[in-house]
Amino acid sequence: MGIIILALVLLVLTPVGAYAQSAPTWTHVQQVFEIYQCPVCHTGEDAPLGLRLDTLEGALEGSENGPVLVAGKPSESKLFTRVGSDSEVRMPLTGPPFLSAEEISLLEQWIEAGLPTGDGDAAAATPQKPVRPGPNDTATFAHVKTIFMKRCVKCHKDKGLVGEPPENLRLGSYDEILKGGERLAILPGNPGLSELIRRVEGKAEPRMPMDGPPWLSDDDISLLRQWITQGARDENSIPAPIPQGRKVRYRGMMTGKRSIDGATFIIDGGTRIDKSPRVGGQIEVRGRVTRAGNVRAYRLRSR
Ligand code: HEC
Ligand code: HEC
Repeated sequence: MGIIILALVLLVLTPVGAYAQSAPTWTHVQQVFEIYQCPVCHTGEDAPLGLRLDTLEGALEGSENGPVLVAGKPSESKLFTRVGSDSEVRMPLTGPPFLSAEEISLLEQWIEAGLPTGDGDAAAATPQKPVRPGPNDTATFAHVKTIFMKRCVKCHKDKGLVGEPPENLRLGSYDEILKGGERLAILPGNPGLSELIRRVEGKAEPRMPMDGPPWLSDDDISLLRQWITQGARDENSIPAPIPQGRKVRYRGMMTGKRSIDGATFIIDGGTRIDKSPRVGGQIEVRGRVTRAGNVRAYRLRSR
């Protein structure tokens, strides 16, 4: 009887979930990875360097370069070294924020302890990616976010692979994408006059992503088109405001008196027309976004 009471007292006194005494497990590590959204990029067949971090199995498998985890040896484990401030290209690629000192030491302890598994994949039950919307459903930023994260952010961020973000265009968050760079990238409601769509479809050069092929899949491109057609909604399904007055520029083929690569723009008395552009020829259109979400050209010229 006395022993049972003693055992109960000890049980009550043991703090639940405290891993200070016992080594952290994959379950704890995975929670940290979720916070920094490592699995948003590191998942599926097109995971960077083939490294998947959505399951313990993937983490143990490592990347094309070999294992990223060496049990008992944090300093030889890229999964540890790449999140530290000494790393040249520090993970998460989208950071800051980067892992805190406590989180980095949790990772270190887990590797030192020999990679204990814990209760298995905690997040396995919660789907990583939202299901693709059907053609009649509403697409939100939640549906398209992974495309930008996986294929665009590595260059279109501060200190990305090509240094400064090209054309000052950052693509790491909803606000950045909507804001655009030197020029607008997305015209809500009008995919044909969204430079971003023209780039991923190869209508405008150079085609994006710049390190392609592979280019985006047809499924991904049509999902991006659907998202923009439906107003480029944020994760709460609120449509983006029309960026009235913003500057745009397109270079492509004149496919009608008022169209470039099949997308219609407005010409009026204020449009300056140079070097007699003709249907079938290459043109440059410079314009501004109207209140209704169209483009009024202030200059049209052949190239
Ligand atoms: C926005 C996408 C993105 C996010 C988020 C991201 N990564 Fe990466 N990761 C990449 C890309 C792209 C590479 C390959 C380029 C490179 O090595 O810098 C990479 C490479 C790595 C490598 C190197 C693998 C090797 O064998 O060389 C490790 C380790 C890694 N990531 C871990 C992480 C961890 C841990 C997190 C979360 C804390 C994370 N990544 C978040 C895109 C991402
Ligand atoms: C390997 C680096 C790299 C990747 C990856 C990349 N880009 Fe780019 N992007 C560039 C560079 C460099 C330019 C400037 C090229 C030019 O116009 O001369 C650019 C230009 C652009 C522009 C034109 C901006 C303007 O105002 O003219 C858009 C839009 C764009 N990228 C979208 C994307 C999208 C969307 C993705 C992902 C699907 C992507 N990029 C992936 C490097 C990259």
